[in-house]
Parts: sequence; C-alpha cells; structure tokens
Amino acid sequence: MDFARAIPGGRLPAMAEGTSINTVAVLGSGTMGAGIAQVCALAGCDVVLYDIDAALLDRALERIGKSLQKGVDKGKVAEAERDAALARIHTGVDLGAAASGADLVIEAVPEDLELKRRIFKEVAAAAPEALLGTNTSSLSITAIAADATRPERVIGMHFFNPVPVMKLLEVVVGQRTSAETTALARSFGERLGKEVVVVRDTPGFASSRLGICTAMEAIRMVEQEVASPADIDRAMVFGYGHPMGPLRLTDLVGLDVRMAIAEHLARTLDAPHFEPPALLQRMVAERKLGRKSGQGFYEWE
Ligand code: CAA
Repeated sequence: MDFARAIPGGRLPAMAEGTSINTVAVLGSGTMGAGIAQVCALAGCDVVLYDIDAALLDRALERIGKSLQKGVDKGKVAEAERDAALARIHTGVDLGAAASGADLVIEAVPEDLELKRRIFKEVAAAAPEALLGTNTSSLSITAIAADATRPERVIGMHFFNPVPVMKLLEVVVGQRTSAETTALARSFGERLGKEVVVVRDTPGFASSRLGICTAMEAIRMVEQEVASPADIDRAMVFGYGHPMGPLRLTDLVGLDVRMAIAEHLARTLDAPHFEPPALLQRMVAERKLGRKSGQGFYEWE
C-alpha cells in the first residue's frame, strides 16, 4: 500500500480533520457498540445507537451510564461531561433512520460477513455521504464493502475492549478505501483521544495477528510444560511490560473466541503457527472458556 498516499503528510483539508463529523450512528449495542457510542458522545458528537431490540438498547444505556460514572470516580470524566455525553446518546431500532443524517456510521454487530454486507448495503443507501466504519476484528474490509455503493468510503475502525480505556484504534484500509476516507478516520480517532495505527486489509490486521500468535505460542508452552500459566504470563508482564499476560487475556476474551480467530488466520494466511494447539481445542470442547465459564487457564469466581 502507498502509505504516503493513504496518510497525506502536512495539514489535511478542513473536511478531513474530523471536525466535519458531528453525528455518529453506532450499529450494535453490545460491549463494543456501547463503548464506541460512549467515546463518541464524550468527544462531543451526537450519537444514535441502533440495535434490533429496545431491551438491548436499554441495557447498553445502563452500561454506558455505569462506565461514565466509573470515569467520574477515577477522575477522568467531569460530572458535567458525563451528563452531556449521556444527553447526546439517542437510541433506535430502525436501521435506515439511525443511519440517515449520520456523518459517520460505525458498525459493531456480530462477526458474520453476510450480516455485515447486508447492513452496509442498506446503510450506504440510507446515508450516501457518510463515512462507513466497521469494528470487525477479523473479517476483510474489502469483502464487507463489496455490496456497498461507493466502497471507497468504507474503512475498518477496530476499537479495543474496554473502549473508553484502551488507547488503540486500528484503522484498516480496504482495497477500495480512498485516501480521503483514511485521513478522515485517522483524524476522527485522534479526536477521540486514541493512538491510531493504519494497517492494510490483511487477515488479523496488525493487532489480532500479533496477539493471537503470542497466545497460541503461550498455550503450546503450557502444553509442553515450559512453565505454569501464571509464570508464562508473569514473564510478559514483568519482562515486557504488558498489562497482562497472553493466557489471562485469553481467559478474559474467551477461549472459543480466540480459537475461532486462530483457525481463521491459519486458513487465510496458510500459516501453521496459528493452528490452535490440541490443549486449546480440548479446553473449548470441555467448555473451559475462561472467565465467562468460570474456568480457563485460571479459575474465575
Ligand atoms: N472511563 C475512563 N477511564 C477509565 C475508566 C472509565 N470507565 N475505567 C478505568 N479508567 C482508567 C483509569 O482511570 C486508569 O487510568 P490511569 O492508568 O491513567 O490511572 C486506567 O483506565 C486503568 O484503570 P484501572 O487501573 O482501574 O483498571 P484495571 O486495573 O481494572 O485495568 C484494564 C483495566 C487496563 C482495561 C485491564 O483490565 C486490561 O489491561 N485489560 C486487558 C485489556 C485488553 O487487552 N483488551 C484488548 C482485548 S482484545 C480486543 O479488544 C480486540 C478484539 O478484537 C477482540
């Protein structure tokens, strides 16, 4: 990729400074969608949070309220900012209505290519001028954009959980994504206070490819009894300054989730080091999925 073209140096035109984005539609109100809505509202945008079910939206609003309060308790968010952010978030169960009027649409629905394609087709028609971001962590941006009109405005905007805390935004440039779209996504990410990396649309992008690689190797090391899970994690925490080790993180994300990504990377990159080790396959079959099941490489309450 011509990075120089994708990320023009010098001052960007006003349109590309992220200031033109006032209204954001966030599609999907799960953990990621709620977090994205929260940071966009904190950055001063009006947000429409969309989901198929009003009860899901109520739950998301509750989660956002709690997270904003935690931000206040930690001294990161002023009470007035909390109240203003909450007031800027609206919800809706009509996809077309949520997208129309948005300057930026960020999709955070389940990782199902057909579902995302369908949504992008509908949203591209409802919001013909909007920038269209997808929070996919593993699917091809180019494939998601395939049925959208003007695929040059479709881009990956990969956030990390918990969105209000994690500093990274991985901007993923599809084959047909324009330089203007890339510049706009980058400047919007910076406006959200994120550190932005720009990555070509390849399997696993930068973050998942490296993260899964480390996790699979750590699991192979448990299999080979190199050290205990706790000590393998401690090696990365105290030797490399990672906030937590790869096995503990795998427990938090879910062993099934990480295994699915590893299988996808092994297939698409034709790389045997991504093949899930037998131990991981066995633990998933036994429903030892990490924190959500109470047992993974660690025991959870
Ligand atoms: N709003 C704003 N700020 C908040 C906040 C909130 N709701 N909650 C916490 N913070 C701030 C705190 O003030 C603190 O800031 P300082 O470092 O400046 O003091 C910081 O966030 C950390 O807070 P805590 O120390 O209270 O939190 P913790 O010790 O519980 O750690 C964590 C939180 C850093 C998120 C830690 O749990 C962690 O590292 N988790 C792993 C996160 C991770 O690796 N995520 C990536 C998962 S992979 C993914 O998401 C991609 C994918 O595609 C699957």
